[in-house]
Amino acid sequence: MTRILDPTVERGLLGELEPVVAANIDRHLSVARDWNPHDYVPWSEGRNFAFLGGEDWAPEQSRLTPVAKAAMIVNLLTEDNLPSYHRVIATAFGRDAAWRTWLDRWTAEENRHAVAMRDYLTVTRGVDPVDLERRRMRLMSAGIEDGPQGLLENLAYVSFQELATRVSHRNAGRETGCPIGDQLMARIAADENLHMVFYRNLVEAALELAPEAMMCAIRDVVLSFEMPGAGQPDFLRYSAIIANAGIYDLRLHHDAVIMPVLRYWKVFDRTDLAPAAEQAREQLAEFLREVDVAAERFVTRRAERNARRERSRS
Ligand SMILES: [Fe+2]
Ligand SMILES: [Fe+2]
Repeated sequence: MTRILDPTVERGLLGELEPVVAANIDRHLSVARDWNPHDYVPWSEGRNFAFLGGEDWAPEQSRLTPVAKAAMIVNLLTEDNLPSYHRVIATAFGRDAAWRTWLDRWTAEENRHAVAMRDYLTVTRGVDPVDLERRRMRLMSAGIEDGPQGLLENLAYVSFQELATRVSHRNAGRETGCPIGDQLMARIAADENLHMVFYRNLVEAALELAPEAMMCAIRDVVLSFEMPGAGQPDFLRYSAIIANAGIYDLRLHHDAVIMPVLRYWKVFDRTDLAPAAEQAREQLAEFLREVDVAAERFVTRRAERNARRERSRS
């Protein structure tokens, strides 16, 4: 993805957006609820592993279905990779004034997600902790592939990505079949929603300040969107399992992530766009029509597969 604005113009825009960042930090702090990871972990189920004289993990100890395991592993590793996201965002947003305050606060909140999910999975023996640790080491040692480069591209990306993780966490929680796991993931999903609101509001302001560049950035991000977990070991296999279970699939991506945010920005309602922005919007609309068709096809095929499976069982 080529960077839309040159760094000098970006620096000016960072300054212009700074009061919006400050106002949205205040807004965020007034609605964010403090919570403690340890509250969402059934510690009474915990016991030592072999290293301390107990028993190591074995598959039969887990109450999670293979689908729930895949979803929890992908979602936890996505949270684990926080240092890479911090680096990318710090590079794009800079570390000045309110931008820095936000980045540090956001990082602290995100870190809580991995702490809580790992404690929950370890204590309940939901997934193999050795395998999980190996995956974490591989992922974090590799960092992340180059994602969006510039300020506007990153703002657009995180707006969608926070909402995508909200949907994915919420549905993964339900899939655990465990009231505590469900509650934990709902709590994390509520945080992700507030993060989405923060970034979405910044894009809204940027659409006023630099409509053409912002519209082009939105197009570029939507057309090349990948989940933040895309670099994880076995991501393709796991994301297929997650999509087949309806935890995160193309239908949800289109209907529950991309479209609501675009509607909030009134992307398709604006009548004041310059030619380059108009062209970006048309490309975006065309792409989304294709996504919609592909999502329909996916859902139909999934229903047919499930019906066949049901028939073969009965
Ligand atoms: Fe998170
Ligand atoms: Fe988040």
